[in-house]
Amino acid sequence: MTTTSELADRYLMQTGRRLPVTFVRGRGCMVYDDAGREYLDLVAGIAVNLLGHSHPDVVEAVNKQAGELIHTSNLYFTKPQVELARRLVELSFPSRAFFCNSGAEANEAAIKLARKWGAKNRDGAFEIITTTGSFHGRTLATVTAGGQHKYSDPFKPLPDGFVHVTYNDFDAIEAATTDSTVAVMLEPVMGEIGIVPAAPGYLKRVREWCDKKNLLLILDEVQTGLGRTGRWFAHQHAGVTPDVMTLAKGLGGGVPIGACLANPRADVFEPGDHGSTFGGNPLACAAASTVLHVIERDGLVGHAAEMGGLLRASLDDLGAKEVRGLGLMQAFEFEDAKAKPFQQACLEAGLIVNAVDDHSIRLVPPLILTAKEIERAHAVMQKLAG
Ligand SMILES: Cc1ncc(COP(=O)(O)O)c(C=O)c1O
Repeated sequence: MTTTSELADRYLMQTGRRLPVTFVRGRGCMVYDDAGREYLDLVAGIAVNLLGHSHPDVVEAVNKQAGELIHTSNLYFTKPQVELARRLVELSFPSRAFFCNSGAEANEAAIKLARKWGAKNRDGAFEIITTTGSFHGRTLATVTAGGQHKYSDPFKPLPDGFVHVTYNDFDAIEAATTDSTVAVMLEPVMGEIGIVPAAPGYLKRVREWCDKKNLLLILDEVQTGLGRTGRWFAHQHAGVTPDVMTLAKGLGGGVPIGACLANPRADVFEPGDHGSTFGGNPLACAAASTVLHVIERDGLVGHAAEMGGLLRASLDDLGAKEVRGLGLMQAFEFEDAKAKPFQQACLEAGLIVNAVDDHSIRLVPPLILTAKEIERAHAVMQKLAG
């Protein structure tokens, strides 16, 4: 019989390497493969399944909405879309929302917004300062914005208008600012590179610099937003508010949706400037509103902060060179290049972790993770890390 992996080799473009497992169902922090094996999932679809797998409230909301209205396009109003926008704005900062389908698209919207804002307010300035090692998506503009050559170089020529500086180096931002600069775009915690939190004071200084120089501050909270770091949004740890914030990943509880929020200063889009056929359709918005509701009802932001502390403490005795993170966004780095075999050994032992490179393991579990599940994960990791 042809296996799923053989079919994938034949029919799917080989854009990434997959681990040798085929998942068929999930519940809470557990997911099950096609042989019925159970896995404790500390990756959550790469920081997506905030409420775990197939949360009953999300399933019910999606079923109900699917039975009423799935899609209309943005030629018309729909209630789920405006209700979601209102809730996101109430939870974050005075702003308006544009909905799309992914993190990359949310960042594309932010980049286009910044360029239009620069044309109107800064004599056509269009350059965006971003950081080396950041990750903002895989479209041409966002892959250029993310300062990782391995992802962008094969696709040259790349779009103009991105200047990269070292993360957590405020002076470098100051030095890179010119008359052409329009915005600074940052992740409050760099995720994809292996969880690098902003240093104390960094975001505050950048905010002050943007105010002083009349630049926009764009924060990419695609991975850090919605409770992941133990606050609704990671920038709240730093006591700053961005002009533009992007969200995706966890927003729809697994249903694809992205959002770009802009404050009145930055919100320069006019009818015809931007759009998306699927963006903010009723199905995705109903799922997302339910995710926000459950996070709030079940106190999952505080829970993530508490479980983040426990998870962090449990990583201390794995013999790692460094442990770093914020809330339920943690990573540890081995001295030796053993992250990939470690990931594979964990998988075989029924635990899902994510090797971001040869040395570092990233953990971005569902916010509903329990102390018992942390103990279970720790027992496996301790046995295999030695
Ligand atoms: C911080 C950040 N921004 C943007 C993206 C891109 O999101 P998507 O894969 O939904 O386009 C990611 C994905 O990992 C991310 O971590």
